[in-house]
Amino acid sequence: YKALYSKHLLKGKKIVVSAGGTQEDIDPVRYISNRSSGKMGYSIARAAALEDADVTLVSCTHALPEPVGVHMIYVHDARELEKAVNAQYDDCDALVMAAAVSDYRPAVRAENKIKKEQHDHLNIELTENPDILYGLGQKKTHQFLVGFAAETRDVIEYGKAKLAKKNLNLLVANDVAQQGAGFNVSTNIAALIYKDGHIEQYPKMTKDDLGHIIIEKIVEGIN
Ligand code: CTP
Ligand code: CA
Repeated sequence: YKALYSKHLLKGKKIVVSAGGTQEDIDPVRYISNRSSGKMGYSIARAAALEDADVTLVSCTHALPEPVGVHMIYVHDARELEKAVNAQYDDCDALVMAAAVSDYRPAVRAENKIKKEQHDHLNIELTENPDILYGLGQKKTHQFLVGFAAETRDVIEYGKAKLAKKNLNLLVANDVAQQGAGFNVSTNIAALIYKDGHIEQYPKMTKDDLGHIIIEKIVEGIN
């Protein structure tokens, strides 16, 4: 599947996409993060822009080229990401949470660089971050809400549970235990799980191709 030509299917629609892994500060020079590259979210944002949507990409990474014709908002940690997506939520038609949000952050951010002379052992206490997508699901009115799940086992079962818990319209479940799926590669192996219970399993494909498929499903969902 390749969307080579725009059919202007999202003209007048506002789509918000988050991408990349949040960075949770330990001190001014260190952070906790994850292996997310942001590629999947950027592919979705490009696919939405190609269909003429008004696209806002809330990005946790500076490592990827800015998609043409997309509004960029750069954020650092989960709490900044939460503020940014919430500010865009009320008047958007669809929101895609492709960002890998750190489940935990350091309980305190040291004001100055932590020095090794002061510690033989260093324990960093972590505290839970807000579940951003859960919050969006709770206050959903008309938005088509898309979540992602990276799993290493029981992909469909965990995926179904996340879709229900977070009140999503669509969940993209990735089996990251397989070769060529998940973090830092340009391909994914995804199952799309819908609110009504039906499931579509896709073979390994590029994140760009999967991005077009997700946008096609959003077009069907919001029109
Ligand atoms: N998510 C979020 N806020 C969090 C954690 C996750 O908005 N604090 C979103 C992710 O962007 C993704 C979806 O929720 O779209 C599922 O994320 P995932 O990490 O797979 O699920 P969790 O609910 O965090 O459960 P777990 O990591 O324990 O599997
Ligand atoms: Ca998580």
